[in-house]
Amino acid sequence: MSNKKSIKSSSSAERGSLPSFLVSELRSRLLNWYAKSGRTLPWRKTRDPYAIWVSEIMLQQTQVKTVIPYFERWMQQFPTIKALAKADLQSVLKAWEGLGYYARARNLHRAAQQIEGDFPTDLEGVLKLPGIGRTTAGGILSAAFNQPISILDGNVKRVLARLIALETCPSKALKQLWAISDHLIDPNAGRDFNQALMDLGATVCTLKNPACLVCPWRSHCKAYNLGVQSELPMSETRAAIPHKVIGVAVIWQDQRILIDRRKPEGLLGGLWEFPGGKLEPGETIEDCIKREIREELAIDIEVGERLIVVDHTYTHFRVTLNVHHCQYRSGEPQAIACDEIRWVTVDELSDYPFPKANIKIIEALRQ
Ligand code: ADE
Repeated sequence: MSNKKSIKSSSSAERGSLPSFLVSELRSRLLNWYAKSGRTLPWRKTRDPYAIWVSEIMLQQTQVKTVIPYFERWMQQFPTIKALAKADLQSVLKAWEGLGYYARARNLHRAAQQIEGDFPTDLEGVLKLPGIGRTTAGGILSAAFNQPISILDGNVKRVLARLIALETCPSKALKQLWAISDHLIDPNAGRDFNQALMDLGATVCTLKNPACLVCPWRSHCKAYNLGVQSELPMSETRAAIPHKVIGVAVIWQDQRILIDRRKPEGLLGGLWEFPGGKLEPGETIEDCIKREIREELAIDIEVGERLIVVDHTYTHFRVTLNVHHCQYRSGEPQAIACDEIRWVTVDELSDYPFPKANIKIIEALRQ
């Protein structure tokens, strides 16, 4: 879909594959299964749209078991929209540290500052908030207010693709999958229906080894009936992701280390890091580090022993950080390619939000 926030109602032809009697059968089977086998999760104990919003954003790219402690800490630290709006971005990013995709935290913070009064209760209003697309909006409005607004996250795409034995990869059939999700949702039980659908995808209709024998939809599932549940959904064709090799400096002067804060935009915007940059063709790591530090901070350093090599994979690329201890030599450090620089002790590093790959560097420094 070119515009992820556009909402179109489905045509009857798109809905046509599921007759009405089947829809009510699927609803009641799923809801009965959920009443017995649904998971107890912290955000299901509340109807506070703010708490549910926070959980949905955390769950966008992160697994439930990782999210739970972050969610509990966040709600202690920022219990209301107002508290979040008043917090400074550094403490918000610190609370998010380790979850990845930090734009999510920046958007939550920005959205909290945009909201006047209560969290919006209508789809249009919710979709206007930064960081909220159609599936997140449906997740929030159904869970908080029991509105029958459909969702289509990765797990739900897999469940529905198997239900109808979709013959293409889900990304090529989004319109059809949204139409089915819209058609299936129980108008009187939006909350439980969506939560149940997510649980079915997460615990039964899993990517590998789906547990069809305990699935409430087994007898109506086209993939199961054709015996192709393990081959579906068809996999997305993905381009190979590029690999960046980075030289990173831990620059020492009198027991302190030089760190920099990234500019607010972009992947890791607003987070702190150890300075460095991309290896040029034909360059050694040592030369790369020396050059990057001169270009970005206008100082001269001596590159010393290697501290650690860290590999990290982001959605669209992979990085290898080659980290060296370095000694400050001369020049006044300047924030040329970043927002701010600071000299800090190893103990003070924990006061600053760092990306995950940098946290491995900090652990290595503490050893
Ligand atoms: N993933 C996205 N939203 C979720 C929810 N409410 N419960 C479990 N997993 C989810």
